[in-house]
Amino acid sequence: MKAVTYDRYGPPEVLQISDIPTPEAGDDEVLIRVHATEVTKADCEFRSFRFAVSWFWLPLRLAAGVFRPRRRVLGTYFAGEVAACGANVTRLSVGDEVYGSAGLRMGAYGQHMVLGENNTVARKPRNMTFEEAAAVPLGGLNALHFMQLAAIRPGEAVLINGAGGSIGLHGIQIAKAFGAEVTAVDKTSKEDLVRRNGADHFIDYTKEDFADVGGKYDIVFDRVPSSAFGACMSVLKANGRYFTGNPRLSVMLRCLWTSKFTDKTASFAFARELVEELDTLTEMIEAGEVRPIVDHAVSMEQIADAHRLVETEARLGAIVLSLDDTP
Ligand SMILES: NC(=O)c1ccc[n+]([C@@H]2O[C@H](COP(=O)([O-])OP(=O)(O)OC[C@H]3O[C@@H](n4cnc5c(N)ncnc54)[C@H](OP(=O)(O)O)[C@@H]3O)[C@@H](O)[C@H]2O)c1
Repeated sequence: MKAVTYDRYGPPEVLQISDIPTPEAGDDEVLIRVHATEVTKADCEFRSFRFAVSWFWLPLRLAAGVFRPRRRVLGTYFAGEVAACGANVTRLSVGDEVYGSAGLRMGAYGQHMVLGENNTVARKPRNMTFEEAAAVPLGGLNALHFMQLAAIRPGEAVLINGAGGSIGLHGIQIAKAFGAEVTAVDKTSKEDLVRRNGADHFIDYTKEDFADVGGKYDIVFDRVPSSAFGACMSVLKANGRYFTGNPRLSVMLRCLWTSKFTDKTASFAFARELVEELDTLTEMIEAGEVRPIVDHAVSMEQIADAHRLVETEARLGAIVLSLDDTP
């Protein structure tokens, strides 16, 4: 089969198209024919081994391979079709159209990949193409996790800082579905995008600081690793809740202190990426509450350009790698 592979950490040019053996499913596993996969910030981070938050570096380097990548095929979030099932598999069948997350196992930049039956694989929404569905699990699973933690009540005011990325855009849609009034913070070129995804208000961080605008929020969902913790606290109402998914060490400590000694709650979390959460997203998509967020799809030959677009945020929605058009 064809796959995009890499054998050393570095710039987008380290990515190449290779012929590699098609993996085989074990007794408790399924073989998935991958049709599409989202090109994510995390793919770029694993390729270059440069992370927005520095404390991730050492544990991830030990896991990913100290001198060279242990797993040659990147790609975590996918949509495809079950091509074969191991002898013990009962939840999935050959021909099922599915989407999901391969977690740190990765492999979705290949035309086939193997996952455990109990990994994060669920039925693909009927009203989405493979390319649209592949763009859901990263943003959808992460945003849903944080929005459920936030226990949003209808009418609450939510500020999403860094709202124009994959997670932020799904965050807007899900917060709106939960009945919130959403303020999105991002750069000028993303205003139309965040508004189309449901944001009620927009703050352009290149022109003004959200902490100076005068708004107060029940919930702040922060996607920007470099943002000032104090500024986020200053816009929270009494009993407000703050969530981050990309915390610096200092922010982790300040979250604990804030929750213990003030009337505000501050939390950092990592999404669990559960099958049940993916099923909830499928229901929300089929009910029209979560909609596709794809900028455009690329072929394997265009993967280096796709990484450049994602790395520099020169995109309006997800960039999706299609694995169907490479013979
Ligand atoms: N905790 C978890 O479980 C988890 C799970 C998956 C991924 N992650 C991590 O999350 C990151 C990707 O998350 P994402 O998809 O939400 O983000 P993203 O794709 O990096 O998007 C962030 C958005 O914020 C904007 N931005 C940058 N600086 C800003 C500022 N000062 N104020 C407001 N907006 C600003 C960016 O635009 P510009 O930069 O162009 O200005 C971009 O539009 C990766 O680092 C990944 O490793 C965490």
